[in-house]
Amino acid sequence: MKNILVTGGAGFIGSNLVRSLVKNYPEYKIINFDALTYAGNLLNLKEVKSKKNYQFIKGNICNKKDVQKVLLENKIDSIIHLAAESHVDRSIKNPISFAETNIIGTLILLEAAKTYWNGEYKNKIFYHISTDEVFGSLEEKGLFSENSRYDPHSPYSASKASSDHFVKAYGDTYGLPVIISNCSNNYGPFQFPEKFIPLLINNIINNIPIPIYGDGENIRDWIYVEDHVRAIDMILHKGLIGNTYLVGGFNEWRNIELVNLIIKLTDQLLLREDGYSNQLITFVKDRAGHDRRYAIDSTKIKNEIGWEPSLRFEQGIYVTINWYLKNKKWLNSITSGDYKNYYKETYL
Ligand code: NAD
Ligand code: TYD
Repeated sequence: MKNILVTGGAGFIGSNLVRSLVKNYPEYKIINFDALTYAGNLLNLKEVKSKKNYQFIKGNICNKKDVQKVLLENKIDSIIHLAAESHVDRSIKNPISFAETNIIGTLILLEAAKTYWNGEYKNKIFYHISTDEVFGSLEEKGLFSENSRYDPHSPYSASKASSDHFVKAYGDTYGLPVIISNCSNNYGPFQFPEKFIPLLINNIINNIPIPIYGDGENIRDWIYVEDHVRAIDMILHKGLIGNTYLVGGFNEWRNIELVNLIIKLTDQLLLREDGYSNQLITFVKDRAGHDRRYAIDSTKIKNEIGWEPSLRFEQGIYVTINWYLKNKKWLNSITSGDYKNYYKETYL
Protein backbone atom coordinates (compact mmCIF):
# COMPACT_ATOMS: atom_id res chain seq x y z
CA MET A 1 0.00 0.00 0.00
CA LYS A 2 1.35 3.41 -0.94
CA ASN A 3 -0.08 6.90 -1.19
CA ILE A 4 1.85 8.41 -4.06
CA LEU A 5 1.95 12.07 -4.98
CA VAL A 6 2.90 12.58 -8.61
CA THR A 7 3.65 16.22 -9.38
CA GLY A 8 3.30 17.26 -13.02
CA GLY A 9 1.12 14.23 -13.72
CA ALA A 10 -0.81 16.00 -16.49
CA GLY A 11 2.31 16.56 -18.60
CA PHE A 12 3.93 14.23 -21.10
CA ILE A 13 5.95 11.86 -18.92
CA GLY A 14 3.75 12.44 -15.87
CA SER A 15 0.56 11.36 -17.64
CA ASN A 16 2.23 8.26 -19.08
CA LEU A 17 3.47 7.45 -15.56
CA VAL A 18 0.11 8.09 -13.88
CA ARG A 19 -1.75 5.89 -16.36
CA SER A 20 0.73 3.09 -15.77
CA LEU A 21 0.72 3.34 -11.95
CA VAL A 22 -3.09 3.54 -11.77
CA LYS A 23 -3.40 0.46 -13.96
CA ASN A 24 -0.67 -1.63 -12.35
CA TYR A 25 -1.28 -0.82 -8.68
CA PRO A 26 -5.00 -0.82 -7.83
CA GLU A 27 -4.05 -1.01 -4.14
CA TYR A 28 -2.07 2.27 -4.25
CA LYS A 29 -3.59 5.72 -4.19
CA ILE A 30 -2.21 7.95 -6.97
CA ILE A 31 -2.65 11.69 -6.41
CA ASN A 32 -1.82 13.83 -9.42
CA PHE A 33 -0.88 17.38 -8.36
CA ASP A 34 -0.51 19.67 -11.36
CA ALA A 35 -0.91 23.39 -12.04
CA LEU A 36 -2.14 22.75 -15.60
CA THR A 37 0.23 25.16 -17.30
CA TYR A 38 0.24 25.21 -21.12
CA ALA A 39 1.98 21.80 -20.91
CA GLY A 40 -0.52 20.12 -18.61
CA ASN A 41 -3.53 18.51 -20.24
CA LEU A 42 -6.27 16.50 -18.55
CA LEU A 43 -7.16 14.96 -21.93
CA ASN A 44 -3.99 12.89 -21.40
CA LEU A 45 -5.68 11.22 -18.44
CA LYS A 46 -9.15 10.42 -19.78
CA GLU A 47 -8.42 6.71 -19.41
CA VAL A 48 -7.92 6.90 -15.63
CA LYS A 49 -10.20 9.81 -14.76
CA SER A 50 -12.82 7.76 -12.97
CA LYS A 51 -10.59 5.06 -11.49
CA LYS A 52 -10.98 4.56 -7.74
CA ASN A 53 -7.26 4.71 -7.01
CA TYR A 54 -6.74 8.02 -8.86
CA GLN A 55 -7.36 11.63 -7.93
CA PHE A 56 -6.45 14.88 -9.65
CA ILE A 57 -5.76 17.98 -7.57
CA LYS A 58 -5.06 21.25 -9.31
CA GLY A 59 -2.23 23.03 -7.54
CA ASN A 60 1.07 24.79 -7.89
CA ILE A 61 4.26 23.43 -6.30
CA CYS A 62 5.27 27.03 -5.59
CA ASN A 63 2.29 27.42 -3.26
CA LYS A 64 3.49 26.31 0.19
CA LYS A 65 0.05 25.96 1.74
CA ASP A 66 -1.42 23.88 -1.09
CA VAL A 67 1.61 21.59 -1.09
CA GLN A 68 1.46 21.06 2.68
CA LYS A 69 -2.27 20.42 2.47
CA VAL A 70 -2.02 17.80 -0.25
CA LEU A 71 0.63 15.85 1.69
CA LEU A 72 -1.32 15.93 4.94
CA GLU A 73 -4.81 15.24 3.61
CA ASN A 74 -3.68 12.30 1.51
CA LYS A 75 -1.15 10.85 3.99
CA ILE A 76 1.46 10.89 1.24
CA ASP A 77 4.39 8.51 1.79
CA SER A 78 5.93 8.60 -1.70
CA ILE A 79 6.55 11.64 -3.87
CA ILE A 80 7.50 11.35 -7.54
CA HIS A 81 8.38 14.88 -8.57
CA LEU A 82 8.05 15.67 -12.28
CA ALA A 83 6.42 19.12 -12.27
CA ALA A 84 8.70 21.49 -14.12
CA GLU A 85 9.08 23.94 -16.93
CA SER A 86 10.69 21.60 -19.42
CA HIS A 87 11.48 23.24 -22.76
CA VAL A 88 14.94 24.67 -23.46
CA ASP A 89 13.76 27.25 -26.03
CA ARG A 90 11.21 28.67 -23.58
CA SER A 91 13.91 28.84 -20.88
CA ILE A 92 16.05 30.98 -23.16
CA LYS A 93 13.18 33.46 -23.47
CA ASN A 94 11.95 33.34 -19.88
CA PRO A 95 14.60 31.99 -17.50
CA ILE A 96 12.98 33.37 -14.35
CA SER A 97 9.86 31.21 -14.59
CA PHE A 98 12.21 28.21 -14.85
CA ALA A 99 13.98 29.23 -11.64
CA GLU A 100 10.63 29.75 -9.92
CA THR A 101 9.09 26.38 -10.78
CA ASN A 102 12.13 24.15 -11.08
CA ILE A 103 14.21 25.51 -8.20
CA ILE A 104 11.86 27.24 -5.75
CA GLY A 105 9.00 24.80 -6.45
CA THR A 106 11.27 21.83 -5.75
CA LEU A 107 12.56 23.48 -2.59
CA ILE A 108 9.01 24.08 -1.36
CA LEU A 109 8.15 20.45 -2.01
CA LEU A 110 11.28 19.24 -0.19
CA GLU A 111 10.56 21.48 2.79
CA ALA A 112 6.93 20.33 2.93
CA ALA A 113 8.00 16.66 2.84
CA LYS A 114 10.56 17.25 5.60
CA THR A 115 7.98 19.01 7.77
CA TYR A 116 5.19 16.50 7.14
CA TRP A 117 7.31 13.37 7.58
CA ASN A 118 9.05 15.00 10.55
CA GLY A 119 11.94 12.54 10.79
CA GLU A 120 9.72 9.44 10.35
CA TYR A 121 11.41 8.36 7.15
CA LYS A 122 10.69 4.60 7.18
CA ASN A 123 8.97 3.58 3.90
CA LYS A 124 9.05 7.17 2.68
CA ILE A 125 10.60 8.34 -0.55
CA PHE A 126 11.16 11.65 -2.30
CA TYR A 127 11.95 10.68 -5.88
CA HIS A 128 13.11 13.53 -8.11
CA ILE A 129 12.89 13.15 -11.89
CA SER A 130 15.70 14.95 -13.65
CA THR A 131 17.46 15.16 -16.97
CA ASP A 132 20.83 14.25 -18.46
CA GLU A 133 21.08 17.88 -19.66
CA VAL A 134 22.47 18.83 -16.22
CA PHE A 135 25.76 17.21 -17.30
CA GLY A 136 26.26 19.52 -20.25
CA SER A 137 27.51 18.54 -23.66
CA LEU A 138 29.60 15.58 -24.84
CA GLU A 139 32.10 15.45 -27.69
CA GLU A 140 31.77 12.71 -30.34
CA LYS A 141 32.93 10.07 -27.83
CA GLY A 142 32.13 9.33 -24.19
CA LEU A 143 28.94 8.80 -22.16
CA PHE A 144 27.35 10.43 -19.13
CA SER A 145 27.40 8.29 -16.01
CA GLU A 146 26.41 8.72 -12.35
CA ASN A 147 29.90 10.19 -11.81
CA SER A 148 29.67 12.87 -14.48
CA ARG A 149 30.32 16.45 -13.43
CA TYR A 150 27.40 18.88 -13.46
CA ASP A 151 27.94 21.40 -16.27
CA PRO A 152 24.59 22.83 -17.41
CA HIS A 153 24.45 25.33 -20.29
CA SER A 154 20.84 26.38 -20.75
CA PRO A 155 18.63 28.13 -18.18
CA TYR A 156 16.49 24.96 -18.23
CA SER A 157 19.38 22.62 -17.43
CA ALA A 158 20.81 25.09 -14.90
CA SER A 159 17.48 25.15 -13.07
CA LYS A 160 17.24 21.34 -13.12
CA ALA A 161 20.86 21.07 -11.91
CA SER A 162 20.05 23.40 -9.06
CA SER A 163 16.98 21.34 -8.11
CA ASP A 164 19.12 18.17 -8.14
CA HIS A 165 21.57 19.85 -5.75
CA PHE A 166 18.78 20.86 -3.38
CA VAL A 167 17.40 17.32 -3.39
CA LYS A 168 20.85 15.91 -2.59
CA ALA A 169 21.34 18.57 0.09
CA TYR A 170 18.07 17.57 1.80
CA GLY A 171 19.28 13.97 1.77
CA ASP A 172 22.69 14.84 3.21
CA THR A 173 21.60 17.53 5.67
CA TYR A 174 18.24 16.32 6.97
CA GLY A 175 18.37 12.63 6.09
CA LEU A 176 15.36 13.01 3.78
CA PRO A 177 15.00 9.71 1.84
CA VAL A 178 15.80 10.99 -1.64
CA ILE A 179 16.47 9.33 -4.99
CA ILE A 180 17.22 11.08 -8.29
CA SER A 181 17.12 9.74 -11.82
CA ASN A 182 18.50 11.63 -14.82
CA CYS A 183 17.01 10.52 -18.09
CA SER A 184 17.79 11.23 -21.73
CA ASN A 185 15.35 12.65 -24.33
CA ASN A 186 11.93 10.99 -24.18
CA TYR A 187 9.57 10.52 -27.12
CA GLY A 188 6.16 8.92 -27.51
CA PRO A 189 2.42 9.59 -27.28
CA PHE A 190 1.11 12.73 -25.52
CA GLN A 191 4.27 14.83 -25.96
CA PHE A 192 3.66 18.56 -26.46
CA PRO A 193 4.62 19.54 -30.03
CA GLU A 194 7.18 22.12 -28.94
CA LYS A 195 9.64 19.23 -28.49
CA PHE A 196 11.46 18.09 -31.60
CA ILE A 197 9.82 14.75 -32.46
CA PRO A 198 6.12 15.72 -32.14
CA LEU A 199 6.91 19.08 -33.78
CA LEU A 200 8.41 17.23 -36.73
CA ILE A 201 5.45 14.88 -37.06
CA ASN A 202 2.93 17.71 -36.79
CA ASN A 203 4.77 19.78 -39.40
CA ILE A 204 5.04 16.87 -41.84
CA ILE A 205 1.32 16.11 -41.50
CA ASN A 206 0.48 19.77 -42.19
CA ASN A 207 3.14 20.50 -44.83
CA ILE A 208 4.86 23.09 -42.65
CA PRO A 209 8.64 23.69 -42.99
CA ILE A 210 10.74 21.62 -40.55
CA PRO A 211 13.10 23.92 -38.62
CA ILE A 212 16.48 22.29 -37.99
CA TYR A 213 18.77 24.26 -35.71
CA GLY A 214 22.34 24.90 -36.87
CA ASP A 215 23.94 22.17 -38.98
CA GLY A 216 21.59 19.39 -37.81
CA GLU A 217 24.56 17.40 -36.50
CA ASN A 218 23.57 17.57 -32.82
CA ILE A 219 23.03 14.18 -31.23
CA ARG A 220 20.42 13.05 -28.72
CA ASP A 221 19.90 9.66 -27.02
CA TRP A 222 16.18 8.93 -27.48
CA ILE A 223 14.14 6.76 -25.12
CA TYR A 224 10.52 5.64 -25.52
CA VAL A 225 8.47 7.22 -22.75
CA GLU A 226 7.02 3.88 -21.58
CA ASP A 227 10.55 2.57 -21.06
CA HIS A 228 11.29 5.62 -18.90
CA VAL A 229 8.04 5.04 -16.99
CA ARG A 230 9.05 1.42 -16.35
CA ALA A 231 12.42 2.65 -15.08
CA ILE A 232 10.68 5.09 -12.71
CA ASP A 233 8.44 2.28 -11.42
CA MET A 234 11.42 -0.02 -10.84
CA ILE A 235 13.47 2.72 -9.14
CA LEU A 236 10.51 3.59 -6.91
CA HIS A 237 10.29 -0.02 -5.75
CA LYS A 238 13.92 -1.17 -5.87
CA GLY A 239 16.06 1.97 -5.83
CA LEU A 240 18.44 2.60 -2.95
CA ILE A 241 17.85 5.76 -0.94
CA GLY A 242 20.52 8.39 -1.54
CA ASN A 243 21.32 7.02 -5.01
CA THR A 244 21.24 8.55 -8.46
CA TYR A 245 20.37 6.46 -11.52
CA LEU A 246 21.00 7.42 -15.13
CA VAL A 247 18.39 6.20 -17.62
CA GLY A 248 19.08 6.22 -21.36
CA GLY A 249 17.99 4.55 -24.54
CA PHE A 250 21.39 3.37 -25.89
CA ASN A 251 19.94 5.05 -28.96
CA GLU A 252 21.87 8.01 -30.39
CA TRP A 253 20.61 9.88 -33.43
CA ARG A 254 21.92 12.92 -35.25
CA ASN A 255 19.04 15.37 -35.68
CA ILE A 256 19.26 15.35 -39.46
CA GLU A 257 19.19 11.54 -39.59
CA LEU A 258 16.23 11.51 -37.24
CA VAL A 259 14.41 13.97 -39.49
CA ASN A 260 15.09 11.80 -42.56
CA LEU A 261 13.74 8.71 -40.80
CA ILE A 262 10.62 10.44 -39.51
CA ILE A 263 9.88 11.98 -42.91
CA LYS A 264 10.19 8.56 -44.56
CA LEU A 265 7.93 6.78 -42.07
CA THR A 266 5.32 9.54 -41.86
CA ASP A 267 5.10 9.88 -45.64
CA GLN A 268 4.70 6.10 -45.88
CA LEU A 269 1.89 6.08 -43.34
CA LEU A 270 0.19 8.99 -45.10
CA LEU A 271 0.46 7.07 -48.41
CA ARG A 272 2.56 9.85 -49.92
CA GLU A 273 5.25 9.10 -52.46
CA ASP A 274 8.77 8.47 -51.14
CA GLY A 275 10.61 11.77 -50.48
CA TYR A 276 7.40 13.86 -50.67
CA SER A 277 8.23 15.86 -47.51
CA ASN A 278 11.99 16.26 -48.08
CA GLN A 279 11.37 19.76 -49.39
CA LEU A 280 10.15 20.78 -45.90
CA ILE A 281 13.67 20.50 -44.44
CA THR A 282 14.84 23.99 -43.49
CA PHE A 283 18.06 24.82 -41.68
CA VAL A 284 17.53 27.77 -39.33
CA LYS A 285 19.66 29.81 -36.93
CA ASP A 286 21.18 27.64 -34.20
CA ARG A 287 19.75 27.59 -30.67
CA ALA A 288 21.88 29.71 -28.30
CA GLY A 289 24.07 27.48 -26.11
CA HIS A 290 22.98 24.41 -28.10
CA ASP A 291 24.50 21.29 -26.51
CA ARG A 292 26.19 19.14 -29.15
CA ARG A 293 25.67 15.64 -27.86
CA TYR A 294 23.94 13.78 -25.01
CA ALA A 295 24.39 10.04 -24.45
CA ILE A 296 23.95 7.90 -21.37
CA ASP A 297 25.62 4.86 -19.91
CA SER A 298 22.77 3.02 -18.15
CA THR A 299 24.97 0.21 -16.78
CA LYS A 300 24.18 0.98 -13.12
CA ILE A 301 20.39 0.71 -13.43
CA LYS A 302 20.80 -2.39 -15.58
CA ASN A 303 23.09 -4.17 -13.11
CA GLU A 304 21.52 -3.02 -9.85
CA ILE A 305 17.82 -2.81 -10.73
CA GLY A 306 17.51 -4.99 -13.81
CA TRP A 307 16.11 -2.30 -16.12
CA GLU A 308 16.95 -1.90 -19.78
CA PRO A 309 15.12 -0.33 -22.71
CA SER A 310 12.69 -2.74 -24.33
CA LEU A 311 11.83 -1.22 -27.69
CA ARG A 312 13.98 -0.84 -30.76
CA PHE A 313 13.83 2.79 -31.90
CA GLU A 314 12.41 1.89 -35.32
CA GLN A 315 9.49 0.21 -33.53
CA GLY A 316 8.98 2.97 -30.97
CA ILE A 317 9.04 5.76 -33.51
CA TYR A 318 6.61 3.87 -35.77
CA VAL A 319 4.16 3.44 -32.88
CA THR A 320 4.61 7.11 -32.00
CA ILE A 321 3.97 8.47 -35.49
CA ASN A 322 0.93 6.23 -35.78
CA TRP A 323 -0.37 7.54 -32.45
CA TYR A 324 -0.16 11.18 -33.61
CA LEU A 325 -1.86 10.29 -36.89
CA LYS A 326 -4.66 8.51 -35.05
CA ASN A 327 -5.05 11.24 -32.43
CA LYS A 328 -5.52 14.24 -34.69
CA LYS A 329 -8.19 15.60 -32.34
CA TRP A 330 -5.71 15.69 -29.45
CA LEU A 331 -3.05 17.26 -31.68
CA ASN A 332 -5.44 19.86 -33.11
CA SER A 333 -6.74 20.81 -29.67
CA ILE A 334 -3.18 21.63 -28.66
CA THR A 335 -1.92 23.29 -31.80
CA SER A 336 -4.94 25.50 -32.44
CA GLY A 337 -4.78 28.00 -29.55
CA ASP A 338 -1.77 29.62 -27.84
CA TYR A 339 0.56 27.24 -29.64
CA LYS A 340 0.10 29.30 -32.80
CA ASN A 341 1.53 32.39 -31.05
CA TYR A 342 4.35 30.36 -29.57
CA TYR A 343 5.18 28.98 -33.00
CA LYS A 344 5.12 32.39 -34.62
CA GLU A 345 7.34 33.94 -31.94
CA THR A 346 9.83 31.07 -32.01
CA TYR A 347 10.09 30.30 -35.71
CA LEU A 348 8.58 32.93 -37.97
P1 NAD B 1 5.96 18.61 -19.53
O1 NAD B 1 6.35 20.02 -19.80
O2 NAD B 1 5.26 17.83 -20.60
O3 NAD B 1 5.01 18.58 -18.25
C1 NAD B 1 5.25 19.32 -17.09
C2 NAD B 1 4.02 19.26 -16.20
O4 NAD B 1 4.29 20.00 -15.01
C3 NAD B 1 2.77 19.89 -16.83
O5 NAD B 1 1.66 19.06 -16.63
C4 NAD B 1 2.61 21.20 -16.09
O6 NAD B 1 1.26 21.62 -15.98
C5 NAD B 1 3.19 20.84 -14.73
N1 NAD B 1 3.70 22.01 -14.01
C6 NAD B 1 4.52 22.98 -14.49
N2 NAD B 1 4.75 23.92 -13.54
C7 NAD B 1 4.07 23.50 -12.43
C8 NAD B 1 3.93 24.02 -11.13
N3 NAD B 1 4.53 25.17 -10.76
N4 NAD B 1 3.19 23.34 -10.22
C9 NAD B 1 2.57 22.17 -10.58
N5 NAD B 1 2.64 21.64 -11.81
C10 NAD B 1 3.39 22.30 -12.73
O7 NAD B 1 7.28 17.90 -19.06
P2 NAD B 1 7.78 16.40 -19.32
O8 NAD B 1 8.49 16.34 -20.61
O9 NAD B 1 6.69 15.44 -19.03
O10 NAD B 1 8.89 16.29 -18.17
C11 NAD B 1 8.54 15.90 -16.86
C12 NAD B 1 9.78 15.90 -15.99
O11 NAD B 1 10.76 15.03 -16.52
C13 NAD B 1 10.45 17.28 -15.87
O12 NAD B 1 10.89 17.44 -14.55
C14 NAD B 1 11.61 17.19 -16.85
O13 NAD B 1 12.66 18.03 -16.44
C15 NAD B 1 11.98 15.73 -16.72
N6 NAD B 1 12.61 15.14 -17.91
C16 NAD B 1 12.03 15.28 -19.14
C17 NAD B 1 12.63 14.69 -20.25
C18 NAD B 1 12.00 14.78 -21.62
O14 NAD B 1 12.61 14.33 -22.59
N7 NAD B 1 10.79 15.29 -21.77
C19 NAD B 1 13.82 13.96 -20.10
C20 NAD B 1 14.38 13.84 -18.82
C21 NAD B 1 13.76 14.43 -17.73
P1 TYD C 1 14.28 19.21 -27.90
O1 TYD C 1 13.19 18.26 -28.24
O2 TYD C 1 13.95 20.63 -27.63
O3 TYD C 1 15.07 18.56 -26.68
P2 TYD C 1 16.46 19.06 -25.96
O4 TYD C 1 16.01 19.32 -24.57
O5 TYD C 1 17.39 17.94 -26.10
O6 TYD C 1 16.96 20.27 -26.60
O7 TYD C 1 15.36 19.20 -29.09
C1 TYD C 1 16.00 18.00 -29.51
C2 TYD C 1 17.06 18.37 -30.53
O8 TYD C 1 16.41 18.90 -31.69
C3 TYD C 1 18.01 19.46 -30.06
O9 TYD C 1 19.31 19.20 -30.59
C4 TYD C 1 17.46 20.73 -30.68
C5 TYD C 1 16.87 20.23 -31.97
N1 TYD C 1 15.71 21.01 -32.46
C6 TYD C 1 15.70 21.53 -33.75
O10 TYD C 1 16.67 21.36 -34.53
N2 TYD C 1 14.61 22.24 -34.17
C7 TYD C 1 13.54 22.46 -33.35
O11 TYD C 1 12.58 23.14 -33.79
C8 TYD C 1 13.55 21.92 -32.03
C9 TYD C 1 12.40 22.13 -31.10
C10 TYD C 1 14.66 21.18 -31.62
